[in-house]
Amino acid sequence: MNLKGKKIILGVTGSIAAYKSAVLTRLLIKAGAEVQIIMSTSAFDFITPLTLATLSKRPVLSQFQKDETGIWNNHVELGLWADLFLVAPISANTLAKFAHGICDNLLSATYLSARCPVMIAPAMDLDMYQHPAVQSNINTLESFGNIILHAESGELASGLSGQGRMMEPEHILSRVEDFFALKSDFTGKKVLITMGPTQEALDPVRYISNHSSGKMGLALANAFLSRGAEVFVVSGPISLSPNKDSFHWKDVKSAKEMYEAASDLHSQMDICVFAAAVADYAPAEVALEKIKKSDANLSIDLVKNVDIAATLGSKKKQHQKHIGFALETEHGVQHAQQKLSKKNFDVIVLNSMKESGAGFQLDTNKVHIFHASGLSIESEVMPKSQIANLIVDQIKNIPVTV
Ligand code: CTP
Repeated sequence: MNLKGKKIILGVTGSIAAYKSAVLTRLLIKAGAEVQIIMSTSAFDFITPLTLATLSKRPVLSQFQKDETGIWNNHVELGLWADLFLVAPISANTLAKFAHGICDNLLSATYLSARCPVMIAPAMDLDMYQHPAVQSNINTLESFGNIILHAESGELASGLSGQGRMMEPEHILSRVEDFFALKSDFTGKKVLITMGPTQEALDPVRYISNHSSGKMGLALANAFLSRGAEVFVVSGPISLSPNKDSFHWKDVKSAKEMYEAASDLHSQMDICVFAAAVADYAPAEVALEKIKKSDANLSIDLVKNVDIAATLGSKKKQHQKHIGFALETEHGVQHAQQKLSKKNFDVIVLNSMKESGAGFQLDTNKVHIFHASGLSIESEVMPKSQIANLIVDQIKNIPVTV
């Protein structure tokens, strides 16, 4: 694909993989993009600004102040100029700065100012990449809606072998091309996503809930957003930090609140994705004061909650598409197919609790997607962001009914 007219900021940070930035710059320029390089000063130890300036046909930027002439490199203008902010390679240090809003160089200031989508390609040694601090920073950036080009496995500069190599420049180019090709395939569509768990209060301090993290729902919200949709999120309590300003975002607690919020929006939506793990039952009564312990056992009377997907499914209009999830511990395919027809879904996504790398709290998932038309596909274990795009691709394939 042609990247003609696309404006890309390419951030280069201190990592041995910085030598690959030269190849990446050349590929982006050859594809027609305008490339503005911003280097961190530690990147100078790995590749010269002269090399990157020559290949990108523009001076490389690195400092706020260009030189003694007093010319100021305006990070806000740079952030507004770009259609895409790509950092390849991103070091552990710059990852940490982005994740925590540390703004001590031109690259991190431009990151905080950028309104365009952000793509990062981490590169580091095996144990550094796997360290929980680095993984948690990657997850934080993903929850901000940044696109992660996960490191590839292979031989590393240290001599160790494993995950940590920056994605090859040719692969990065194709992700950039896919990104621009996909960007607008849901433009003009309104998408509702229910996500996270619900909490059903027992008393002022206790509730019934489940292990849903909201990660899959948020990955879907980000995927739709990056493909041009207007995204309405109704979220149960989660401990992620999404950029809520990018969405029409409504926080709720109970299934009843989630139903009311989703129901208010439903008639305006084109696509509804029911990714929430809604509690099926709630305590019949919520005690006004904390329930005190006694010597006797305690039974709690539970009443059935409204089934949000089924209720809204019965009101679904011809132009609307409904997508559901099923998390099963046994007879997954059979239960998923029953839910598909019972709740009037067009597509249902089955997660199995028994697959390794799939389920609650994890960053990866493995799914089996069933269409009402009878089509079905099964994925590999992949990061939830990739699973989200796969699901969105499947939603695009739902035949239009007239
Ligand atoms: N769902 C919903 N409202 C509920 C229960 C479920 O909107 N009260 C939606 C979920 O968001 C999901 C689908 O229905 O898209 C299936 O949810 P799941 O919990 O797997 O199924 P249930 O119908 O609750 O059946 P069971 O718990 O018995 O498997």
